[in-house]
Amino acid sequence: MELENKNEKNAKFLAFPKGFFWGASTASHQIEGGNVNDWSEWEKSPKRMAELKKKNKNPEEYISGKACNSYELFDEDLKRIKEFNLNAYRFSIEWSRVEPEEGKWNEEAIDHYKNVVKKLKENNVEPFVTVWHWTIPLWARDRGGWSSKKILDPFSRFAEKMASELKDVKFWITLNEPEVYAGQSYLIGIWPPQKNNPFVYVKVIRNLIKAHNNIFHVIKKINLEAKIGIANPNIYFEAYKNRFVNIVLKKIVDWWWNFYFLDKTKNGLDFIGLNHYHHSRINYGFHKNENKIVSDFGWELYPESIYHALMDLKKYNKPIYVTEHGLADAKDRYREWFIVESLKNVHRAIDEGANARGYLHWSLLDNFEWAEGFTKKFGLCEVDFKTFKRAPRPSAKIYAEICKNNGFMLK
Ligand code: BGC
Repeated sequence: MELENKNEKNAKFLAFPKGFFWGASTASHQIEGGNVNDWSEWEKSPKRMAELKKKNKNPEEYISGKACNSYELFDEDLKRIKEFNLNAYRFSIEWSRVEPEEGKWNEEAIDHYKNVVKKLKENNVEPFVTVWHWTIPLWARDRGGWSSKKILDPFSRFAEKMASELKDVKFWITLNEPEVYAGQSYLIGIWPPQKNNPFVYVKVIRNLIKAHNNIFHVIKKINLEAKIGIANPNIYFEAYKNRFVNIVLKKIVDWWWNFYFLDKTKNGLDFIGLNHYHHSRINYGFHKNENKIVSDFGWELYPESIYHALMDLKKYNKPIYVTEHGLADAKDRYREWFIVESLKNVHRAIDEGANARGYLHWSLLDNFEWAEGFTKKFGLCEVDFKTFKRAPRPSAKIYAEICKNNGFMLK
């Protein structure tokens, strides 16, 4: 890909490819508020309440409730998107809103998403639309959710409906991090429906593979121009000291975690969405990260890892969009540093042949961080969850400059 030629004028400007997408990402259940789905019911369930109380946690902080109220305040979000000079915005469609009862479409909800797309387009912001970001309607949950094949036809019907209503959308992300969801919900059992069953876990992964492959064709049939991908949660696994055992272990986890889902869906992928948060230095089956700098989540902030995650994906020969990357950092101590250092690594990967065409930061807003409730702050904007005021953090201003200039000066 051709890099913009600012380098000649100033050797220190790190320019990104022409037409690079600069964006931010969100997900319906984390920002919209007022959703009624498998998660919202689980958040309030006696089992969940008891678990939280046992850990001395305030249950109110763990109920999504009105979240960021983005369903009503999309115009506020759009203002921030513009202010940050973004030319891409990723959001997800809440299936439980569009089809609250099986087979009955909620036209008001569909109009809402149409309006979001229209306004983004009017402002020259490219929508990246996720069909499924972890939540399902109650009726689909009652049929066994993703552990049952019965979900496949309704899911295709939902995708078909949305693709025909949102014809202007070019970039579609079918599924968000299927492996993470399957693991948390069906293996480790900390997310709804809290199962710990390796057989069901594998079944869920299989169903999600089928779901992707089905809706790839469904969307293409309606919109030949559509570009369809998955947001995959690749981790950079590093074999500590290149010890033989660690190299073997790395190969196994790479195969299962990073590549299995992509290998099973690659004929139905126009691009790969990379959600990247983790580096794991493997030593005899344990993590041996240095953890010199960590986020509020305790996750190591290791900017080089995105370089490796991108290079690992080169073998698929497809365009790559970083569809999530970010950190929980309420005080904004590391965000600017982390964004800039990580982007240097994205640039390095592009220089070395990785076909990365966009970077969408997670997230536009502080939001409902799943089992962590509102306690983890990933936002470029701080959100006051009582008034719903969005206040850009200082690092957002730096990110906005980078987006505007399609690059930045190296210091
Ligand atoms: C998910 C987001 C989540 C983020 C931070 C990703 O795995 O797609 O929904 O908020 O990580 O944990």
